[in-house]
Amino acid sequence: TGAFTYDPGFTSTASCESSITYIDGDEGTLLYRGYPIEQLAEHGDFLETCYLLLYGELPTPTQKADFDYRVTRHTMVHDQMNRFFLGFRRDAHPMAIMVAVTGALSAFYHDSTDISDPKQRMIASMRMIAKMPTIAAMAYKYSVGQPFIYPKNDLDYAANFLRMCFAVPCEDYKVNPILARALERIFILHADHEQNASTSTVRLAGSSGANPFACISAGIACLWGPAHGGANEAALKMLEEIGTPDRVAEYVAKAKDKNDPFRLMGFGHRVYKNYDPRARIMQKTTHEVLNELGVKDDPLLEVAMELEQIALRDEYFIEKKLYPNIDFYSGITLKAMGFPTTMFTVLFALARTVGWIAQWKEMVEDPSQRIGRPRQLYIGADKREYVPIAQRG
Ligand code: CMC
Repeated sequence: TGAFTYDPGFTSTASCESSITYIDGDEGTLLYRGYPIEQLAEHGDFLETCYLLLYGELPTPTQKADFDYRVTRHTMVHDQMNRFFLGFRRDAHPMAIMVAVTGALSAFYHDSTDISDPKQRMIASMRMIAKMPTIAAMAYKYSVGQPFIYPKNDLDYAANFLRMCFAVPCEDYKVNPILARALERIFILHADHEQNASTSTVRLAGSSGANPFACISAGIACLWGPAHGGANEAALKMLEEIGTPDRVAEYVAKAKDKNDPFRLMGFGHRVYKNYDPRARIMQKTTHEVLNELGVKDDPLLEVAMELEQIALRDEYFIEKKLYPNIDFYSGITLKAMGFPTTMFTVLFALARTVGWIAQWKEMVEDPSQRIGRPRQLYIGADKREYVPIAQRG
C-alpha cells in the first residue's frame, strides 16, 4: 500500500480525539458526554442537551435559564434573508434551500468570522442553534406558499418550531404538547453521533479556518445523501412503495439480491452492529404520536413492523448484522405530525446542528488539530511527455 494506509470510507481511521459522544456499536450504546441517550431522551429537554454537548456538563437551573435566554435572543433572521427564499422555485427541495440559506448566514454576521475569539465562537454557536428552526420553518412555509411565521420566544424550542411551521396568520394555533415533546425527543436523538460523514465534513471544512456558517452548510450538503440523513425520506418512500404487508417479502428478497442495487432504507449502520438505541426510542415515540393523533392501523406502520419482523429473522440480515436504524421509524412519526417527506432530512439537519457546532468548536480549540488533508494512493499514468494536438489521433 505504499507510504500510506489505504482506508476507503475511513472504517478504521480515527481523525480526531473527542470527548463529546461515545458509541459502542456492538453493544448498541450511545452516550452524550457520558450520559445514556435513553435517559436524555426520556428526561431531558433539547436546549439542555445542546448545553451539555457544547459545555460538557448538564446545566444548573441558573445556567439553563441563562442559556435559554441567550439562544432565544438569536432566533430571528435578518429580514433581507427572506429574499434568499424568494429566489428559489416553490418546488425546490428544502435541503437545497437549507444549504444555500445557511451558507448565506456567513454574509450577515461578520463578527463570527473571527474564530480565534472564544466569545465569537460561542455567539456563532448560539446563532446557529437559534436560527436553524427559523430557517427550516421558512423553507417549509415557502414550499407550501404560506407567509413566514416569526419565532415566539416564550415557547420551547420544539413547540416554537411546530408553530412556525403550522400556524397561519389570523388563526389561532395551539401547540399540542404531546407532539412538541415527541419532536423534542426526535431532536435529542439526532443531536450528535460522533464522526459520521456530515460531522467529518464540518470538521474538515472548519480545519482550514473557514467561516462557521459555511462549514455547517457543507455539513448539510453531506447529510442530504440517502446513505446518511436522506435515509429518513428514502425509508418512508420505500414503505409507501411497498404499500401492504404482503409485499414485504418481495422487497426483502430484492434487498438480498446481489445483482439488485436496492437496499432496505433505514436498515444497517457503519458503527451499530446491534439494534440502534435511537431506533428503539423512535419506535416508542412513533406509537405515542399515532395514538395521540388517533391514527389507527396506519398502513405504513404495519408495513414497517412486518418488514422489521421478517428482516430480523432473515439469515442475510442476521449474518451482516443489519438492524433498523433511527431513520426507519422517524419518517412515519414526522409524516403523522404533518411534515411532508421532503422536510424529514431538514429536521435531521436542524437537530444535528448542535452536534456539528460542538464538534467544530472542539476541533478549533484543540491545539493538536491541523488542516485535514488526507493522502491518496496514486494509480494513474506514469510521467509522460506532452503531445501537441496536431500529432494526436
Ligand atoms: N439493505 C441490504 N443490504 C445492506 C444494507 C441494507 N440497508 N446495508 C448494508 N447492506 C449489505 C451490503 O450490501 C454489504 O453486503 P456485502 O458485504 O455482501 O457487499 C454489507 O451489508 C455491508 O454494507 P456496506 O455498504 O459495506 O456498509 P457501510 O458501513 O459502508 O454502510 C450504510 C452503512 C448505513 C450506508 C448502509 O447500511 C446503508 O446503505 N443503509 C441504508 C441507508 C440508511 O438507512 N442510512 C441511514 C444510516 S443511520 C442515520 C445516518 O447516519 O444518517
